[in-house]
Amino acid sequence: MHGVTVIDHPLVQHKLTIMRKKDTSTASFRRLLREISTLLCYEVTRELELTEEEIETPLSKMNAPVLAGKKLVFASILRAGNGLLEGMLELVPSARVAHVGLYRDHDTLEAIEYYFKAPEDISDRLVIVVDPMLATANSAIAAIQKLKERGSHNLRFLCLLAAPEGLKAFREAHPDVPVFTAAVDSHLNELGYIVPGLGDAGDRMYGTK
Ligand code: URA
Repeated sequence: MHGVTVIDHPLVQHKLTIMRKKDTSTASFRRLLREISTLLCYEVTRELELTEEEIETPLSKMNAPVLAGKKLVFASILRAGNGLLEGMLELVPSARVAHVGLYRDHDTLEAIEYYFKAPEDISDRLVIVVDPMLATANSAIAAIQKLKERGSHNLRFLCLLAAPEGLKAFREAHPDVPVFTAAVDSHLNELGYIVPGLGDAGDRMYGTK
C-alpha cells in the first residue's frame, strides 16, 4: 500500500514472533518491545536529513555529518505507546516527547482523549507518533489530528502491527503521513483486536491481565 513501509529486518521479525506467542512472559515481552523499538526507530529515521559540521579529530580537521534541523519529537499514544518510546529515546536521547492520552471505548471502539501534552514548538519539527497496534486506527487518527491542530505538518506514524482495515482508514484520514510497521496482519475481529496479532499490547507489557 502506498505510504506504508513494512520493516522486514530479520531481527525485527524474529523478535516479533516471540512477542506474539501467548506464553511469552511480561518481562520478556517488555524487553523484546524495548529491543524491537530501537530497530524500528533506526528504520523510521533512515531518511533524516544531514548537514555538515567542522570538527577536529585527534589527527585533523574535517567536515563531518550531523543531523540537520531541530530535535525530533516522539509522540506516544498512551499507554501502550510508552513501550515503544523507551527504546527510541535510547537511540535518540535528545528527542522531545509528546504524550497523547487516548483510550478505546470498549463498546464503540471510538478514541476518547483524556490527556495531551506536547512541546510548544512542534510546527518545525519532525513528529514521530508511536503506538504498537494500528487496529481500527481511531486513536492514531485522533492523535495526529490533534498534533496537526497544534501546527505539526511533518509527521510519521510508527507501530509494531497493523490491521489492513486500520491502514486503510489511516491512509484515508491522513494521506500525508507515512506509516512504518513490522507487519500487516490478516484482519480485525469483532472486538477490534488484530488477528493473529499478539493480544492487548498494553496488558501484555504491564501484566494487567
Ligand atoms: N490494541 C491492542 O493492544 N491489541 C489489538 O489487537 C488491537 C488494539
